[in-house]
Amino acid sequence: GAVELGPYRHYMQKEIFEQPRAVADTLEGIEGIAPELFDGQGEQAGSAWRVFKEIDRVLILACGTSYYSGCTAKYWLEDIAGIPTQVEIASEYRYRTSVPDPRTLVVTISQSGETADTLAALRHAQSLGMTHTLTICNVATSAMVRECELAYITRAGAEIGVASTKAFTTQLAGLFLLTLALAQAKGKLSAEDEARHLKDMRHLPVALQSVLALEPQLIQWAEAFAQKDNALFLGRGLHYPIALEGALKLKEITYIHAEAYAAGELKHGPLALVTSAMPVVVVAPNDALLEKLKSNMQEVRARGGVLYVLADADTHIQSSEGVHVIRLPEHYGVLSPILHVVPLQLLSYHTALAKGTDVDKPRNLAKSVTVE
Ligand code: G6P
Repeated sequence: GAVELGPYRHYMQKEIFEQPRAVADTLEGIEGIAPELFDGQGEQAGSAWRVFKEIDRVLILACGTSYYSGCTAKYWLEDIAGIPTQVEIASEYRYRTSVPDPRTLVVTISQSGETADTLAALRHAQSLGMTHTLTICNVATSAMVRECELAYITRAGAEIGVASTKAFTTQLAGLFLLTLALAQAKGKLSAEDEARHLKDMRHLPVALQSVLALEPQLIQWAEAFAQKDNALFLGRGLHYPIALEGALKLKEITYIHAEAYAAGELKHGPLALVTSAMPVVVVAPNDALLEKLKSNMQEVRARGGVLYVLADADTHIQSSEGVHVIRLPEHYGVLSPILHVVPLQLLSYHTALAKGTDVDKPRNLAKSVTVE
């Protein structure tokens, strides 16, 4: 039946605020890490364990926001599971000559499970002899789930807003589980690590709720962004794809030109664009890269750029002239991307409200691109 808006003004707003529930549902009932979590349907039941033992690489194929969840997962898969991982835009992969390796796990990521390029990329990989396929998908009855050997169904529920929000965070939850299951199959997950990661995952809904409570501060930022024509987003490591997703959200629903860069690339080009008219959003959790990021921030300040910093509990960055800081309540370690994307969603949503653009149906865009 029709999805009710309830107390919300827009589906995107509703879907942003549903994220604690969506992530909780996606992780519900998981008592321990096991490849069986990824078993396919019917005759594929029981096959994940064998597949995980057989493969020694991962190839992720996706489009749009789903591509950025794949980019995030690459950092997890190489760091935690030690598995070489390649992430490719589906429309690129399907049309280029590539070198197939049958010991690859091909992972497609899709909210709808019907995106034409992602389906075609999957079939292309299969035609090259890569039979081990897995999808992280939000629609259990989709073509993607039917055509993949293994599947993990996210439980975001129907996503109506064209700009993806809860599908992204639930994909990340599913991809983190996949990372742990592959790490386990490769003998790289100790019982202590498993218990620690499970505990952190169970705490995610509460942590997401406390990030959503930052909304009033993001409304203030949005008032400034609504006056701008351009914005730059910076991140490093796990949060580089989050910066990309933040820029995509802003483009999609506010029509403000936004670009994201790996912060280390700043001096190789985008620094030339920085003036006082260019807001620079920095995703700055307190991880091993924070000191590097701080020097990138100084480079921006020295050119008069205005910084909007998403820090977290332990980041010692203070608001000052030209530096606006919002502090997330906790530092969340490797799961931090799941939290840091939320303020970026809220920033875009409120900037769109301030500009009066059509949040749920941005011009020229479709929810699901099922034709080429
Ligand atoms: C469209 C939507 C995006 C989505 C992308 C991929 O561009 O507007 O929100 O990320 O398709 O869709 P999928 O269903 O494959 O995740």
